[in-house]
Amino acid sequence: MDAYLIEGGHSLRGRVEISGSKNAALPCLFASLLTQDPLFLYRVPGVRDIKVAAKLLERLGKTVKFGEGKLEIREGEVSKEAQREIVAPYDLIKQMRASVLAAGPMLARWGKARVSMPGGCAIGLRPIDIHLDGLRAMGASVEMAGGDMVLTAPAKGLHAIRYRLKFPSVGATENLMLAAALLRGTTVLERAAREPEIEDLAELLKKMGAGVQGAGTSRIKIKGAKRLNGAGHTIIPDRIETGTFILLAAIVPGSSVQIASCQPAHNAAVIKLCRQAGVDAQAGDGVISVKTGSQFRPKPVSIKTAVYPGFATDLQPLWMAFMARSKGKAKIQETIFENRFLHAAEMNRLGAKISVKGDTALIEGIPTLVGAPVMAGDLRAGAGLIAAALTAKGMSKISRIYHVDRGYENLEMKLTALGAKIERFEEVRYKRVS
Ligand code: EPZ
Repeated sequence: MDAYLIEGGHSLRGRVEISGSKNAALPCLFASLLTQDPLFLYRVPGVRDIKVAAKLLERLGKTVKFGEGKLEIREGEVSKEAQREIVAPYDLIKQMRASVLAAGPMLARWGKARVSMPGGCAIGLRPIDIHLDGLRAMGASVEMAGGDMVLTAPAKGLHAIRYRLKFPSVGATENLMLAAALLRGTTVLERAAREPEIEDLAELLKKMGAGVQGAGTSRIKIKGAKRLNGAGHTIIPDRIETGTFILLAAIVPGSSVQIASCQPAHNAAVIKLCRQAGVDAQAGDGVISVKTGSQFRPKPVSIKTAVYPGFATDLQPLWMAFMARSKGKAKIQETIFENRFLHAAEMNRLGAKISVKGDTALIEGIPTLVGAPVMAGDLRAGAGLIAAALTAKGMSKISRIYHVDRGYENLEMKLTALGAKIERFEEVRYKRVS
């Protein structure tokens, strides 16, 4: 397993180019299941989650070619009958929960979807009841068999619905949009997720021939089509990677970073909060500049994670690393996932003073963190630990960075170009002694 060795205390200076969004690309990959025509996706980040999704599509009968950000998905040789019997299997689902997004399109296209049930994960239980409830409302029946969900559409196929989600789940909104795009009639989703990734999926579905209105608001109308065509689509910039670099520059004193090829409006919440903390953060046309003085310590600013356009839960571990050196006490309330504070104990190994009670973390800022070996428990926790290690005095080792590889493209290359001292090495976990 790979690990990072980081020498803290080197300011970040220069320009970084943001990659395409992993979380926008994933549902777009699954949209390929809705058509027999080729789909061409551009600016797709070369991260592990995308590779897992591509493998799943291959198991479902697609051929996938991926290189330099361009992904070509074509219908393979697998017969329609065989496709119906294909399972989205546990070995892939357990690597990436977003695989459950195969369910809506499989069901809409083939009338049947056998998808392995995702378990819990490091950040919480993460049930998929809203996905299933919405698909049931469209007429699907759901049965469990050997850890798989077997979803079956009625003989006439799924039908359009007017449906109010009990929570604006990003994944459930996407799954239902995907299914709704390939059925007759107009589906109306209320209390839908408003994240920019939803708008990007809507753009692709429109290019494929569906009618979509209202994406980006809580009420989305999807006018399905009997047949969808192929399309070409460029994925939006990754707002979580953008936010990560904003916060990395804010966290490491003496930094001056231009974050380029991004959409500043998608990061309005974090930019505003960084300014409140005393960071010089300026948004321009596709660029965000972030500067801090060489002795900079932020003012304490408490936050609460929220659905878009609020403060993204995915940036919460980075805000924690930021507040670890604040000049006072700050609180973080996590409202999206019930168990997303596992990085607090790891940050305390770097000297931070963080206590957690229920959904709230209390961070007592201290002047300096000190390097130590720590472990990444999930993707964004890994980013938070990298941020903390970059500002800590001395060396830190971050283990289990395969989590980080799931969602950040060329992270150590980008950081090294900005002046960070970060190296990847292979940790030998077991060594025979006799
Ligand atoms: C998406 O996950 C992102 N993943 C996550 O990013 C992100 O943290 C999350 O949205 C919130 O913004 C992708 O886009 C691939 P949700 P998703 O359904 O769709 C509960 C990263 O690091 N819920 O909006 O799974 C759920 O348990 C990842 O890139 C139900 O109760 O998020 C959670 O508490 C991590 N029932 C809350 O809603 C359901 O059926 C939000 O989940 C679905 C969700």
